[in-house]
Amino acid sequence: MRLTVLGGGGFRMPLVYRALLEDTGDEAGRCTELVLYDTDPGRLDAIRAVLAEQAEGRPTAPAVRATTDLDEALRGADFVFSAIRVGGLEGRARDERIPLGEGVLGQETVGAGGVLYGLRTLPVALRIAERIATVAPDAWVINFTNPAGMVTEAMQRVLGDRVIGICDSPVGLCRRAARAVGADPDRATYDYVGLNHLGWLRRVVVNGRDRLPELLGDTAALESFEEGKLFGAEWLRALGALPNEYLHYYYFNREAVASIRQAPATRGEFLREQQARFYATAGSGAAGALQAWERTRLEREATYMAESREATGGWERDSCDLDGGGYDRIALALMRAIARDERATLILNVRNRTAVPGLDEDAVVEVPAVVDAGGARPLAAGAVAPDQLGLMLTLKAVERAAIEAATTAAGTEAGTDSGIARGAALRALALHPLVDSVKVAGRILDASGALDRP
Ligand code: G6P
Ligand code: MN
Repeated sequence: MRLTVLGGGGFRMPLVYRALLEDTGDEAGRCTELVLYDTDPGRLDAIRAVLAEQAEGRPTAPAVRATTDLDEALRGADFVFSAIRVGGLEGRARDERIPLGEGVLGQETVGAGGVLYGLRTLPVALRIAERIATVAPDAWVINFTNPAGMVTEAMQRVLGDRVIGICDSPVGLCRRAARAVGADPDRATYDYVGLNHLGWLRRVVVNGRDRLPELLGDTAALESFEEGKLFGAEWLRALGALPNEYLHYYYFNREAVASIRQAPATRGEFLREQQARFYATAGSGAAGALQAWERTRLEREATYMAESREATGGWERDSCDLDGGGYDRIALALMRAIARDERATLILNVRNRTAVPGLDEDAVVEVPAVVDAGGARPLAAGAVAPDQLGLMLTLKAVERAAIEAATTAAGTEAGTDSGIARGAALRALALHPLVDSVKVAGRILDASGALDRP
């Protein structure tokens, strides 16, 4: 089986490879060939050096090939993981800084920053989807590319339900909540509903009983893990559900923005320096690439969402917070369920159909879905609380305005459509609940150059 990774020179690639190495099952349905595609040959070299060290002494390690030619990478692929970062960390830093300059949240996927990131990424993701439709029409596509909900929905317009989006934050929340009530996370079922980076865990069912009410009543247990510390027991009890960690940017917006503005560097700026050091070391050809990667990874994970933690008392992430389940393991579980027709229930970004009443059929939602060789089908979520549904509807309108802006700008000749694309982009930014004025949205759009043609 052949797996192609778009963005294969990315920093998280060794995590995926590690998960592939751990899969020692029989050959059918196991990845035997890995193709890394990236636009940057230097990054491919560095990551290949890490993977080579990982594969030492592993006779069943998948063969690795690298290319900067998209069609060549796609041809013959059974699965395509898309994990690209259009504009690199330089682009991320700008997505953060420009909104912060206007006093609103500057973050990779939430708020104005997420919209800017989407506007830059969507045309590229759509072009990739078209190449997949032509060159590898039978491949399954697993999308990690952020903003994952928006990008998955756009790619589905070209490829349909063969595109499935993933994120590690819902499963991380679920597993932490289960552990907090002393349950085995693998033996619980979870009622989680939302969009990507905008969801709520509503029930944690163990042996037929919902344990969330008990958890909500126990302040110590509740505040023992990441989301409990971020939101505080009082708010979680008032809400009656456990929000995804990204909802901290909504519910505690003022504090989050203040904390990010005070930090010496944004997340993107920090990672830009950190990652440059890693790629220089790993690409140098000397031994020790794996060690350098591991060191960098630990530092990266330990500093994740540092500003939100700073704003809520300055606590450190502990090992329980870090063991979320990981992108890599979710992606592999999804790939195995499809390739081996082994039924599994995973929280995924899929087309709604009728799972969430109040959202239309084609809206990509993040909910538990049953996966087998036929793909992923969402489980019925049942009624959603009005505040949650309201936010989901608003953010879905934001996502769709961004998709409209990107498709209009990408599809036509320069100059003829800029008014339409600008209007849609302005809607995407100004309708976002974390952007407080249309004027602010307009200035952010102008400063970003999002609609300038390459
Ligand atoms: C989580 C989210 C991803 C996001 C990542 C950012 O894993 O689910 O969607 O890309 O965090 O982590 P970073 O280390 O890049 O700030
Ligand atoms: Mn995510």
